[in-house]
Amino acid sequence: MNVADSEVVRTLLRGDGLREAESAATADVVLLNTCAIRDKAEQKVWTRLRDLRGRKGKEGQTVAVLGCMAERVKDDLFRDGLADVVVGPDAYRRLPAMLRDQEQSIDVTLDRSENYADVLPTRVEHTAHGAFVSIQRGCDNACSYCIVPYVRGRERSRSVQTILDEVASLYDSGVREITLLGQNVNSYHDHTTDSIRQTTREYTTDFTPFVKSDKKDAQTGVRFAELLERCAQAAPDARLRFTSPHPKDFPDDVLETIARVSNIAKQIHMPAQSGSDQMLRRMRRGYTGEAYRSLIQRARAVIPDVALSSDFIAGFCGESHEDHLRTLSLIQDVGYDMAFLFAYSSRERTPAARRLEDDVPSDIKKKRLQELIDAFRTGREARSRERVGKIHLILVEGAPRRDRGADLVSGRDDGNRVHVFPSSLPDGSELKPGDFAHVLVDRAEGATLIGVALRRAAGAGDRPLVDADTGAEFLIDEQTGVSRWAAEPPLVAASAHARPAVATRAFSTMATAEDAIDAILAAATPATVLGVAKDATGREARDAFLVVSRLVHPDVCTDERAGAAFAALVEAYDAFAPSDIKYDVSQAEFQGDALTTAAWMWDDAAAAARKHKARHTLDDDGSTGRSVM
Ligand code: 5AD
Ligand code: SF4
Repeated sequence: MNVADSEVVRTLLRGDGLREAESAATADVVLLNTCAIRDKAEQKVWTRLRDLRGRKGKEGQTVAVLGCMAERVKDDLFRDGLADVVVGPDAYRRLPAMLRDQEQSIDVTLDRSENYADVLPTRVEHTAHGAFVSIQRGCDNACSYCIVPYVRGRERSRSVQTILDEVASLYDSGVREITLLGQNVNSYHDHTTDSIRQTTREYTTDFTPFVKSDKKDAQTGVRFAELLERCAQAAPDARLRFTSPHPKDFPDDVLETIARVSNIAKQIHMPAQSGSDQMLRRMRRGYTGEAYRSLIQRARAVIPDVALSSDFIAGFCGESHEDHLRTLSLIQDVGYDMAFLFAYSSRERTPAARRLEDDVPSDIKKKRLQELIDAFRTGREARSRERVGKIHLILVEGAPRRDRGADLVSGRDDGNRVHVFPSSLPDGSELKPGDFAHVLVDRAEGATLIGVALRRAAGAGDRPLVDADTGAEFLIDEQTGVSRWAAEPPLVAASAHARPAVATRAFSTMATAEDAIDAILAAATPATVLGVAKDATGREARDAFLVVSRLVHPDVCTDERAGAAFAALVEAYDAFAPSDIKYDVSQAEFQGDALTTAAWMWDDAAAAARKHKARHTLDDDGSTGRSVM
């Protein structure tokens, strides 16, 4: 939200002739856009203000504090001469005049009609392929712990047309991922525009919202599901996301729209806050743990493999150990891909601060928070392992954050997971930031997934599909209904080309299974069987093994010598792997390798099966590769 707001402010100030400075130390005016949601966020701003007034600032510099903390703290920010100008979230249009004329130094009026609909935000990085579009401001909910309704004011939505214009303009400028933003984004409602589908407001099945507005709810107009679909059409190859929603506003048509429209990310942020009914009541969330769980179930049923994330607060007023355990078990049961976990921070003026006691000691809050974090991490690891061996649709972003060697790039999948893979494709072309690609995940390293790019995807809607008969993942041309598989190089060949950056052994460039078999059967030592150096590490041996085993596995290779060659490979691999301590045979990686091997084999086997009109059957556990490792 604040990034989007800063972009609005940037447009307003540029329009008034201001330019961006190189650094805060040399600027005439410094703007701090602030958050007030937890005390920690505000403490950071105070520290920054003191720094600016101390050695890090410039003599005579104007310091303006914008946003939610400005709204909450108001003229206290002038204390000790720390701020010169204070502007709340609905008063940004006045900022240029305030800086210019210096007549007025504070404006914290909340304005029910301000939505900056006509201000096209100026993005910081023109080369970036992701952008935010604010579709709604303020919040009409009354969660008892939350300051947002007091600093951001009442909920108001932008008109459909201004949003679509902004989405289309971002798309035209090359943006390939658009995130629709709002404090309660899925209660979006433009009553001034005629709807093509929905009439009155619907809530999530079995949810009774804490605050209901019968008058507004009965109004017709465009609601969230329809807006989402129209935005997806306005940016046809781009990926569409939204945040942050409230669980009460997921009527079935929202879930169905996410499932049906191919370029909407199959990902939902579903802030639970707690797993205990007592806490949820005190928080005034308007749902029970049971209702929340059934929403999760419905989301998973309607949107297969949907990535789920959530927010949780540890140590809210009156939280008992049992309440905490209920939250823990919710986290364990759901298995979130992402979570934002916080210790409760009492905010003045909120209903909780006025009526409830902040009675969980801070060390207990911290301990519970840590337990929630640990439970979340365990669940996320399990989710990572599920992703290994599968093909994902990735938007390429650029060089990985951590230096992992040349020619590797990183990108994100629908669930916002980071994937790292070589930029080269089997056809010899290179992936660039802003491209979509199908990436086969080889293993998980912490939260990051490592894999190989198989092919370029046409856009955010060009998803790898799963063959219900064979379990193989492949693509169907929507127009002709024909699998695009046949027209492409077989995956084994793809692996040989795509892998060199990862696996630099002799065999990785071996063109055919026959060549590999000849070499294996003629080889005298384990190293030559694998095509690696005599002193290769276990990891190198394992990479070589994986590459070559895909070529000569008896399930995928029709050469009658395949069985013997494969057995020789296994033996050679065994000679290397156990003795090498540098090879981290963590359970995750080990399983990942086995599954990946299986996945490649399924793919190949599925292709072969189609060719011979025969059905290929897998072992019961679906892992033809496991027995060989
Ligand atoms: N203390 C701790 N966390 C809070 N949040 C909102 N208010 C508070 C508070 N007073 C969290 C909620 C919300 C997220 C944006 O911040 O989990 O979903
Ligand atoms: Fe705060 Fe609740 Fe509104 Fe979210 S929905 S901004 S937590 S009041």
